[in-house]
Amino acid sequence: MTEQVDIHKCLFPVAGYGTRFLPATKAMPKEMLPIVDKPLIQYGVEEAMEAGLYSMGFITGRGKRAIADHFDTSFELEQQIQGTSKESYLTDIRNVMDSCDFIFMRQREMLGLGHAILTGEPIIGHEAFAVLLADDLCATPESGGKRALGQLVELYRKHQCTIVAIEEVPADATGSYGVISGEEIEPDIYRVTDMVEKPKPEDAPSNLAIIGRYVLTPDIFEYLRNTPPGANGEVQITDAIRAMAQEKPVLAVKFKGHRFDCGSIAGYVEATNYYFKKQYG
Ligand code: G1P
Repeated sequence: MTEQVDIHKCLFPVAGYGTRFLPATKAMPKEMLPIVDKPLIQYGVEEAMEAGLYSMGFITGRGKRAIADHFDTSFELEQQIQGTSKESYLTDIRNVMDSCDFIFMRQREMLGLGHAILTGEPIIGHEAFAVLLADDLCATPESGGKRALGQLVELYRKHQCTIVAIEEVPADATGSYGVISGEEIEPDIYRVTDMVEKPKPEDAPSNLAIIGRYVLTPDIFEYLRNTPPGANGEVQITDAIRAMAQEKPVLAVKFKGHRFDCGSIAGYVEATNYYFKKQYG
């Protein structure tokens, strides 16, 4: 039996420009856009904490300093509101800051998601790790239990292999996602046989799209080093996982709970309405 390896690091690729939200993202990272009163990136970090992870690595770029500031003490502000009723607004973020380590690395050139993840290798070392794309916002399942990443991590503990989150998308939407094909080995769990990044509907192997939650074994870095630029001329994590799936088990899981595409205006507004209703009424 192979040694059980646990997982406690999560990478957040956050170097992207967020052009779809211009002008809002001209001087502010898209990951700092709030859903009601909390920035997207904090939802992501809280989901990773819920999954049992406590070491948060950010692959940042120019213009992303607000993310590092968000997870740091803000002395002046905190002193101002100390002892007032407003202090309770900081309860959640203080809990996050007190529970986790935060590590930041810059991706100097935007060469794709795969390149961003490879940039994080010094943060990760030789351990399995999670990747969370904060603009996919995953809600707690209506039936209760953990959000998407927690579900993946639990599955990782059982199978000890690379796992991606998937959901069914309309057939004409495959061009926005990595799309898998595979064999369903248990209800909602597939062994991946193929994966294509952003296929046209007529070329898509299925309508099972990858959502921004991954658990990756550390050999992914070797696959990434051998992955040439693919769709959009970028190094794609999808291509590296595809190569891995040719040689060893890779799983895809239909996770429970609604996913909001906060990389689009419509999904962002939908998420805002959902969380507003949840918090206020
Ligand atoms: C990335 C991945 C894609 C995945 C998607 C999920 O694409 O490359 O495989 O389906 O995230 O949101 P992006 O949305 O960055 O274009």
